[in-house]
Amino acid sequence: MTRLEGKIALITGAARGIGLAFAEAYISEGARVALADIDIAGARKQAERLGKGALAVEMDVTQQASIDAAVDATVAQFGQIDILINNAAIFTAAPIAEITRADYARCFEINVAGTLFTMQAVAKHMIARGQGGKIINMASQAGRRGEALVAVYCASKAAIISLTQSAGQNLIQHGINVNAIAPGVVDGAHWDGVDAFFAKYEGKAPGQKKREVGAAVPFGRMGRAEDLTGMAIFLASKEADYIVAQTYNVDGGQWMS
Ligand SMILES: NC(=O)c1ccc[n+]([C@@H]2O[C@H](COP(=O)([O-])OP(=O)(O)OC[C@H]3O[C@@H](n4cnc5c(N)ncnc54)[C@H](O)[C@@H]3O)[C@@H](O)[C@H]2O)c1
Repeated sequence: MTRLEGKIALITGAARGIGLAFAEAYISEGARVALADIDIAGARKQAERLGKGALAVEMDVTQQASIDAAVDATVAQFGQIDILINNAAIFTAAPIAEITRADYARCFEINVAGTLFTMQAVAKHMIARGQGGKIINMASQAGRRGEALVAVYCASKAAIISLTQSAGQNLIQHGINVNAIAPGVVDGAHWDGVDAFFAKYEGKAPGQKKREVGAAVPFGRMGRAEDLTGMAIFLASKEADYIVAQTYNVDGGQWMS
């Protein structure tokens, strides 16, 4: 299958987890991919493993100069960017009484400002090039409703759904489709952190929260990064040209909207 033949993708947070699975899937569909991450050692290791078609790019989405440099490096290597996946994010959680300004600022800088200003930098390139493009933002079921202990992360992901709506409406005039994916609970390093948090705040044994959330998914288990790749390929493909400003749940039936 080569649904993305000849396309160039920039994926943030691609050194591991869901971003890495997207990079692998895109390459197998014929795209060449810049794996952008603050963890440049991890991105390099994965790019080497993936071989031809993969480029490791150092990028901190909280720093404008770093965003611009990553876009420039991708264009210098591959000539263009057709697809952006804004995937880099962090999880944070605390009861309302314990949230700190520092935690709030860090989460919103990475998850919200990082997404907005990476989207802006790549959109500028796409507009100048005049051939449209596809932008996919990573939202979450956490953005569909608040959670008692997860106020800041949930709010950051609600902001991603809103930014996707605004940017989608603004950029479609340039042939740039902006959409988002809202995963449910996806096993991996991110959820190891969530599990450890709930172990601390709810007195659960390590691994217990994961077992509970997995059992509660109508599909019957936690998600895997590979469960999301089909939607990421589809939204980047020509078949999705008429899809604008939407957020799709890919969560085993956890949320319906
Ligand atoms: N895992 C889940 O259950 C789940 C559920 C819903 C949504 N999501 C979303 O999916 C996306 C990927 O999640 P994941 O589970 O693979 O997370 P992860 O923590 O495994 O990977 C995140 C990646 O982002 C990178 N990163 C962190 N800060 C960065 C920065 N400032 N600049 C550049 N890169 C940075 C990290 O180095 C890491 O490689 C995130 O947006 C997350 O919020 C995940």
